[in-house]
Amino acid sequence: MDDLTLIQIDRNVKQWLRQARTLVLTKMTERLTVNEKSSRKDLVTNVDKENEKFLITKIKNYAPDSHVLGEEGFGDQINREKGWIWIVDPIDGTMNFVKQQDHFAIMVALYIDGQGVLGYIYDVMNDELYSGGPNLGVFKNDVQLDQPANTALADGLVSLSAPLLIHDRFNLLQAADESSGVRVYGSAGIEMIHLLTGKIITYVSYLKPWDFAAGKILGETLGLVTSTIDGQPLDMLSSGFVMVATENAQRDILPIIGQNG
Ligand code: IPD
Ligand code: CA
Ligand code: CA
Ligand code: CA
Repeated sequence: MDDLTLIQIDRNVKQWLRQARTLVLTKMTERLTVNEKSSRKDLVTNVDKENEKFLITKIKNYAPDSHVLGEEGFGDQINREKGWIWIVDPIDGTMNFVKQQDHFAIMVALYIDGQGVLGYIYDVMNDELYSGGPNLGVFKNDVQLDQPANTALADGLVSLSAPLLIHDRFNLLQAADESSGVRVYGSAGIEMIHLLTGKIITYVSYLKPWDFAAGKILGETLGLVTSTIDGQPLDMLSSGFVMVATENAQRDILPIIGQNG
């Protein structure tokens, strides 16, 4: 794809995302409909669904041959990486959205033949849109971001998802103990933003494709490593335990995880 086409797609996606943000902010002034999905800790609202439908409509109108994978199921069934695949998480951090009306994100990613091309994480309440990809660099609104420092485990903050922490999986508590401290934000998108900006140096969580698709593209563009929890490459269409880290933090954590399985 030539640079002009890429820039044009990027402009369009940013426009849809700004409209999506307005939709979400407007719906937040009305009564929410909240339903449980798999458990009382796994919520979905009318806003998740409406925003996903909105974004998928924009994508399909613009690029009708695309396939879209959306968390709430309004997209397509996708089982191969061929062609243009958009991955949409209409509200990442739905629990935060419901309980805090803050600390949630809208995320979109574009993969072509399995390669990450463009990623977007929109921190809605702070009006900060993180965007870009390997051919553009990474931007916070209009400002290009530098690579975060390649900080070692002992010198930075790590973020774990709450279930990993509560159930002390994979010897991660020891890894956390060897870091400068632990933070839990409750939205994969917000955690990724903290990684991109160097505020944390590792994030580990069980994630589905829509949770990591955009973050993988933006993170790798800025020199972060994304992998499974045991350091293997991520399959963009599979769910599993995911680690995003600076190279040095990943080097320090992998042997600790290996100790107790
Ligand atoms: C969730 C959040 C959460 C992570 C979960 C995700 P959702 O996304 O990103 O931080 O720990 O694994 O499912 O369901 O709110 O879009
Ligand atoms: Ca969800
Ligand atoms: Ca999510
Ligand atoms: Ca979601």
